Amino acid sequence: MAGQDTFWLPRAGSTIAKEVDFGWNLVLTVSAIFFLIVVGAMIYLVVRYQRRNENEVPHGPEHNTKLEVVWTGIPIAIVMVLFAVGFKTFLSMAVAPAESLEVSVTAERWLWTFTYPNGTVSVNELRAPVNQPVKLVMSSKDVIHSFYVPDFRIKKDVVPNQYTTTWFEATEAGEATLMCAEYCGTGHSAMLGKIVIQQPKEFQDWLDSAGADAKLPPAEAGAKLFVKMSCNTCHTTDGSPKTGPTFKGVFGRTEEMSDGQKLQVDEQYIRESIETPAAKVVKGYQPVMPVFKGLLNQKQIDALIAYIKTLK
Ligand code: CUA
Repeated sequence: MAGQDTFWLPRAGSTIAKEVDFGWNLVLTVSAIFFLIVVGAMIYLVVRYQRRNENEVPHGPEHNTKLEVVWTGIPIAIVMVLFAVGFKTFLSMAVAPAESLEVSVTAERWLWTFTYPNGTVSVNELRAPVNQPVKLVMSSKDVIHSFYVPDFRIKKDVVPNQYTTTWFEATEAGEATLMCAEYCGTGHSAMLGKIVIQQPKEFQDWLDSAGADAKLPPAEAGAKLFVKMSCNTCHTTDGSPKTGPTFKGVFGRTEEMSDGQKLQVDEQYIRESIETPAAKVVKGYQPVMPVFKGLLNQKQIDALIAYIKTLK
C-alpha cells in the first residue's frame, strides 16, 4: 500500500496529496530553520552582551547597508518561492480534469447526499473508482458546511444558494473519512461520511446494482435502503432508542406526539415522517431529522414501510 499515516500527516490517498505535502513540508522546514536561527541568535546575544557591571554604558546600533540588503533580499526570495509553489498547487486543485466523473453533493444538517450521473443516490457514503478523477459539484440546503477529506488533502466550503466544486483522484482502493469542517449546529461533529474507493469494475457493478435493487421484494429493498440512506445512524431495529425512536415493533404501536396527541403508527404516518419529519414528532425526541422529500420515490418509501412492518 502506498498510503500510510505518518507522524505529521494522514496517508496520501490522492494524486494531489504529494503536491500539497511538498508545499506543507517546505513551509514547515523554512519556519523551523528560521526559528532556530532567531532563537539561537537571541540566546547567543543575551549571553554575549549582557551587562557585566553596573556602570557599563551600552553602545547604540550602527547602520550597516550590507546587512540590511541581505536580510531584506533573502526573505523576499524565500517568500516568492513559497508563493510560486502554493500558486501552482492551488491551480491544480482548482481545475478538475476534463474526463472527470461528475457527482453532485448536497449537504444539509447533518448529512451528505451524493447523486451519480445515472441517478443513483447514496447518503453519507461516496463511492468512486480508483485512478479516475472525480469532480464534485456541491451545494447546501441550509447553512454553510465544508467538505473535508484529510486523506485526499481536499477541503471546500459547501454553501447554500451557490455551487462550489472540488475534485480528487484516488490512488488506491480503500476507505477514507469525510468530515464536515464548518461548524453547522449541534450535529456538526457527527456529520461524518465515508469515501469508498473501488476498482472500476466493482464500482460499475455497484452503480448498476441500484437498478437491480428495484427488482427485490419490497421488504428486502427496504432493508437495503435503510442502510444506504443511513436511517440506521439514528434509528435502531433492536429496541434501543438513539437520536430517533427505535423501529422495533413500531408499526401499529400507539405513540404520544410532542403536542400530546396520540396516534397509531400506520403507513400514512411513516410516509409523512420520512417526507416531512417535523410534522409529528414522538414525545421525548428532537425535531432534527432531515427532510427526505424528493430524495426517495414512492416505490422506495413503500419498500421502507414494508421493511419497518417486518421489525417485530
Ligand atoms: Cu455540516 Cu458542520
